[in-house]
Amino acid sequence: MSHKRSLSSAPGKVILFGEHAVVYGRPAIAAPVTQVQASAAVTPAAPGSGLLIAAPDLGRQVTLSTAPPDDPLAAATRLTLAHLSAPEPDGILTIHSTIPIASGLGSGAAVSTALVRALGSLLGRKLPADSVSEIVFEVEKIHHGTPSGIDNTVIAFEQPIYFVRERPVQRLRVAAPFTLVIADTGIRSPTKKIVAHVRRAWKREPAHYDALFDQIGDVTDEARRAIEAGQTSALGPLMDENHELLIEMGVSSPILDELVEAARFAGALGAKLSGAGQGGAVIALVEETADLDLAEIIGALTEAGARWTICTQVDSPYHAS
Ligand code: MEV
Repeated sequence: MSHKRSLSSAPGKVILFGEHAVVYGRPAIAAPVTQVQASAAVTPAAPGSGLLIAAPDLGRQVTLSTAPPDDPLAAATRLTLAHLSAPEPDGILTIHSTIPIASGLGSGAAVSTALVRALGSLLGRKLPADSVSEIVFEVEKIHHGTPSGIDNTVIAFEQPIYFVRERPVQRLRVAAPFTLVIADTGIRSPTKKIVAHVRRAWKREPAHYDALFDQIGDVTDEARRAIEAGQTSALGPLMDENHELLIEMGVSSPILDELVEAARFAGALGAKLSGAGQGGAVIALVEETADLDLAEIIGALTEAGARWTICTQVDSPYHAS
């Protein structure tokens, strides 16, 4: 085994369209957010010392040999070692993350992805994106029960995707890159809890919720066509429509609605909550060329109570001809 330190990272993510409905088989669109990152470093240790996993930002430290099966960091490690048919290495695996927890930015999946990649590189094996995604999906099940698989997929593939659960990943061709402002409410919102809340509501009123999921699926398909055709301005009203459907689903909240309103009022082309909802973040679409709009929208979001804002561009890593 190499004595070098292996450092790996993974981006955060945003859901552009289709959250929740994606758990029920409808399509969704997501993109990586490289302005926030999880990173994992493995430093080899003396033979026989085993693996210590430390995540100081999360206030967590576990020894692999004694960690319980449902510990997500240990689970990611065990799944990776099993995938690579490798024994427990001796070392210290340190994880850092600038991705806010429970904010809809994929912190859990990004931490797992960085960890899986760091272990692979320590063991001299570069894991392909689909293997990383599959391993992280198993860990996601511990985090939130019935994940659709969108978070692990967009983070492992690191490019915008059109996603339908249990189907092969479809990379999205972004014909004209566009800018989003992400604004966080500062209210932590565990995905598991909100997904369970939607499931209970769906069981109570299946016809109503299935109709909402279908409408969100249609909005997502329209958004895909607009993104692939470079019709950015068409995305704004679609984001607004998706947000209304999420309100009807019961996953918005007063502060999310206020941030969405503030962004629209300040000139955003459209805005919606992003991720599980009832807290977490909103996204606002900003006209490409309007620097003034961007500053105004960020100012309005901050004034309306956003704890922080991030500006990110959605683009394909390639431009197919
Ligand atoms: C979480 O990023 C998105 C949800 O749709 C849950 C999931 O897809 O697993 C709320």
